Parts: sequence; C-alpha cells; structure tokens
Amino acid sequence: MAVVGVVGLGNMGRGMALSLLRAGHEVLGTDASEKARSTLASEGIPIFESVGPLCARADLLILSLPTAEIVDAVVAGEGGIIAHARPGLRVVDTSTSHPETTRRLAAALAAHGMSMIDAPVSGGPKGAITATMTMVIGGADADVAAVEPVLADMSAKRVHVGSVGAGHVCKIINNLLCAAHLLTAAEAMRIARAAEVDPAGLLEGLNAGSGRSGVTQVNLPTWVLNGAFDSGFTMKLMRKDVRLASQLIGELALDLPIAEEAARIWSESAASIGDGEDFNRIVETQLGKM
Ligand SMILES: NC(=O)c1ccc[n+]([C@@H]2O[C@H](COP(=O)([O-])OP(=O)(O)OC[C@H]3O[C@@H](n4cnc5c(N)ncnc54)[C@H](O)[C@@H]3O)[C@@H](O)[C@H]2O)c1
Repeated sequence: MAVVGVVGLGNMGRGMALSLLRAGHEVLGTDASEKARSTLASEGIPIFESVGPLCARADLLILSLPTAEIVDAVVAGEGGIIAHARPGLRVVDTSTSHPETTRRLAAALAAHGMSMIDAPVSGGPKGAITATMTMVIGGADADVAAVEPVLADMSAKRVHVGSVGAGHVCKIINNLLCAAHLLTAAEAMRIARAAEVDPAGLLEGLNAGSGRSGVTQVNLPTWVLNGAFDSGFTMKLMRKDVRLASQLIGELALDLPIAEEAARIWSESAASIGDGEDFNRIVETQLGKM
C-alpha cells in the first residue's frame, strides 16, 4: 500500500481520494478551497494547507485540478512541487490539461529526480467515487508500471496510449467528440420534434442503430430527457476542454471546419448558460430552455 497525496479535492479528486482510502492506501489531501478541505477532513482524509507536507510524506501525488495554468502553478510555481522536490516522488496528473504544458512540467520534474505521467479520466464524479473511471495514460513504460497498482485502485480501465502528453491529447479529442456529439444529438432531437416523433422513441431507435454515441446512450437518458442535468461536470470545464482542443488544432496547423463550428457554439454559449451549469445544458442552444 502506498502513501498517496491528492491535490485538488473537488468533484473528481474527492472521489479518487475516498476510493484510494477504501482500497487501504494512506491518503493525504490538499485543496485551495476551505470548503473542500473541511469536507474531506470530515470524511477521514488528513488535510494540509499546501503541497509541501504532501511532497515530504507521499510516495506519489495525484493531481485533479481545473486548468493547465493551475497545474503549472502547483508543479512549478512558488511553494509548489519542484520547490519541495524530493527525488523519487511520482506525480500523476488526472486533470484534463494542455499536452505541451504536461511535457514541459514532466521534463522540469525529471530534472529534479521526480517523474510525471498524465492519466486524465472519464466517468465523472460517480466513476471517481466507485473507482470505475477510465484513464488514458501518457508516460514512459517504467513510470506507468510503477504507479499501476495505485491507478488500478481508482479506475476500471486504463489505456496506455503513448509517451508523456499523449494521454492529454487523447482526452482532449475525446471531449471534443463528446462536445460535438451533444450538438448533433440536440439537432437530431429538433428534427424529431419538428416531425412530431417522440424523443424517447427516437432515442431507442438511434441506440439500436449506427447513429448512436455515448451522448445518445448515456447523456440524453441520464441527464437531459429527464431534466436532471446533474452529471457533476460543469459548462466551465467543458468550455475549457473545447478551448484546449481548438488550441491543439491550432498548434498542429490543422483546418477542421466541424471542430471549429462546434468550438464557436461552445464559446458563444457563455452568454446564455452559466459556468456552474451542467455541461449537458449545451443542448439548449439547439432546443431552447429544457
Ligand atoms: N467533473 C467531471 O465529470 C470530470 C470528468 C473528467 C475529467 N474532469 C477533469 O478533472 C479535473 C477536476 O475536475 P472537477 O470537476 O473535480 O473540478 P472541481 O472544480 O470540482 O475541483 C477542482 C478542485 O481543485 C481545487 N484547486 C484549485 N486550485 C488549486 C490549487 N492551486 N491548489 C490546490 N487545489 C486547487 C479547487 O478548489 C477544487 O476543489 C478538471 O481538469 C476536469 O476537466 C472532470
């Protein structure tokens, strides 16, 4: 069993910390928010004010942070992991982040005798707390193998896709597809509505046919058609992911008109759908208020 420090105890980090605790690891945590710190303290996780004590005591650190800029600050900023460098410490970034930033931080950590892999996740808060997430992993074989037993205690499926940064490339592509599928599925529902076909019937037909997607199989029945909109993944985070996809496409100098149009709709949605709303609300750009 390992000593694991979890940095970022929000919707995802909280579930990961509790899954690791349940599996028998010693789990320590830190978060910038007092609310997150007190919630996890009340759930049995020793909480620290900063990453310093975690670097001193943990075998590995799991990062679950909102943006690449925050990951950068936690790793390389003042009072961050490099400032508290302890050779042999391993870092696993489960945040959805910018691949080039990940590669730069992995190199900076390596220069101080530490390693980093990227292991962004799918499955939402429910997947985190039930240890059923999927991870797409980027990293050197030896670094991935060294943390595999801990990753196995917080996820059901792990796909090692390449070297450091490759996990983040795959995760960004995955979320771009999910973001675009939400828009095309909403347009499909609009066609059905205009043609006076019941949306539940449409969904059943689609999910038995080749037009189905994760959105038609999971998002629409679980969070949209029943009006729940409680997936635990916010508009703010999905807008960030779509921006990361646009950034990556730009860095690769690709001309991708469908991705560009999806990114435009997601960006403009900020005017009508608040940051804290569920990301499935994007269907309202096509269907009106649900
Ligand atoms: N929520 C989901 O369904 C989901 C699914 C897959 C991936 N993700 C990704 O996982 C990451 C975390 O998502 P989330 O939904 O848990 O976000 P969240 O906003 O609920 O949690 C992030 C936590 O990080 C903390 N934090 C911010 N700055 C910090 C700092 N400098 N030091 C320590 N803690 C800090 C925040 O206080 C917050 O508690 C994101 O990159 C997101 O894109 C989320």
